[in-house]
Amino acid sequence: MCQLWLLLGAVICFLPVSVYLLENGLARTPPMGWLAWERFRCNTDCKNDPDNCISEQLFRTMTDLVVSQGYAAVGYQYINVDDCWLEKERNIHGQLVPDRQRFPSGMKSLADYVHAKGLKFGIYQDFGNYTCAGYPGILGYLQVDAETFGSWDVDYVKLDGCYAHPSEMDRGYPEFGYYLNQTGKAMVYSCSWPVYQIYAGMQPNYTAIIQHCNLWRNFDDIQDSWDSVQSIMDYYGNNQDTVVPNSGPGHWNDPDMLIIGNFGLSYEQSKTQMAIWAILAAPLLMSVDLRTIRPEYKAILQNKKIIAVDQDPLGIQGRRIYKHKGIEIWSRPITPLYQNYFSYAIAFVNRRTDGTPSDVAVTLKELGLVSPTGYRVEDLYEDVDYGVLTPQTKIKVKVNPSGVVILRADVQPDFNRRVPYYSTQRTPYNPLNQVFKVRSNGFSFP
Ligand SMILES: *[C@@H]1O[C@H](CO)[C@@H](O)[C@H](O)[C@H]1NC(C)=O
Ligand SMILES: *[C@@H]1O[C@H](CO)[C@@H](O)[C@H](O)[C@H]1NC(C)=O
Ligand SMILES: *[C@@H]1O[C@H](CO)[C@@H](O)[C@H](O)[C@H]1NC(C)=O
Repeated sequence: MCQLWLLLGAVICFLPVSVYLLENGLARTPPMGWLAWERFRCNTDCKNDPDNCISEQLFRTMTDLVVSQGYAAVGYQYINVDDCWLEKERNIHGQLVPDRQRFPSGMKSLADYVHAKGLKFGIYQDFGNYTCAGYPGILGYLQVDAETFGSWDVDYVKLDGCYAHPSEMDRGYPEFGYYLNQTGKAMVYSCSWPVYQIYAGMQPNYTAIIQHCNLWRNFDDIQDSWDSVQSIMDYYGNNQDTVVPNSGPGHWNDPDMLIIGNFGLSYEQSKTQMAIWAILAAPLLMSVDLRTIRPEYKAILQNKKIIAVDQDPLGIQGRRIYKHKGIEIWSRPITPLYQNYFSYAIAFVNRRTDGTPSDVAVTLKELGLVSPTGYRVEDLYEDVDYGVLTPQTKIKVKVNPSGVVILRADVQPDFNRRVPYYSTQRTPYNPLNQVFKVRSNGFSFP
């Protein structure tokens, strides 16, 4: 099997990551949208806090804002409910019932509202006896719950893993996925399967996970702090040989929500989260109050150039290629391609706290950018175009404490030279072979 990528006349053949992937046709690029949990949690007190409680009103309001404030126009699409939307008891037919006070119109009505605005609707459940917050889970009701979601016209299901046996997940997550498929309604399937198995000391079977899930959580829930963002960056950097090869169109690692615009991250740290999530080919699920978000944070979430990196059609997750004395360099192969050369997004992160920006100087070659035709380099936050640089060019960036500089380097075609349409010498980047490894620490910075 061979996928053809027709770019600038070059044809490159990729071997598929596995022989069988989830075939629902969804999430060809990482899903983008809004998810309630990190910001609104399990606030069920609509009496005293009507504007912030988990209710149909909250989701309608966020739907309106995703459209009116320009988020939909840059790609945010899903409006996702998380925990605490349910009644504590199923109905006499064994079906799930949304909370009667907080979702009086029901979930089909809410899905219709979201759809009428041109967006998609996501819901939350749990592969256990209870959801994490203690509402009814799907155990014993897999088929009926999948059918219920289908009948509500749900587009996306996040299935958590509280109150479940991790050893049963290898059977249970695929089984629920089977019932979702049987509804005939294609739904993005977000799994928490690996993270609960890792917590239980098991080794997740990613071969199976990528066959059955569109995305999955590998690590802790994000919290509203820079510490939390850094711990997630460390997880994906430290475990990249295991997790990066599993990512690709239709199947993504999920480092959890974007917390940009909330209370815990500074402006610099917010830019860092957005940049690194794009390098990680992460789902971009904002969890923020869109009624009150400040304009500079909204601008980060709506940075089209960084979103384009995240949504790059190759779907290759990037890697941390350098880490020394608080400076990290992260790199992701992206389109366009020319001959056997990728373009790249490169993020320089400064984890130091010594109050002044750090200089990082490195040649493109040291970053693995070796096309003799050169690269057009631009900064994705600042309006700086470096022009076309050769691999020997040394670039120098100033990175603010807990901040980031993210560049995009587009490989340049050589219009002076005729390229054979097919060539046997091509050695495209293959995540499974891990050819794109941490390189020698040959970079210089003070
Ligand atoms: C779920 O509940 C059933 C019935 O009470 C019980 O047998 C099973 O062990 C429970 N599963 C978990 C994961 O607690
Ligand atoms: C169900 O699975 C089949 C086989 O993988 C696939 O062709 C089909 O598109 C899936 N349908 C839905 C609704 O996900
Ligand atoms: C992992 O899952 C694959 C695909 O379902 C299966 O063929 C393989 O036997 C599993 N590996 C282990 C160690 O269970």
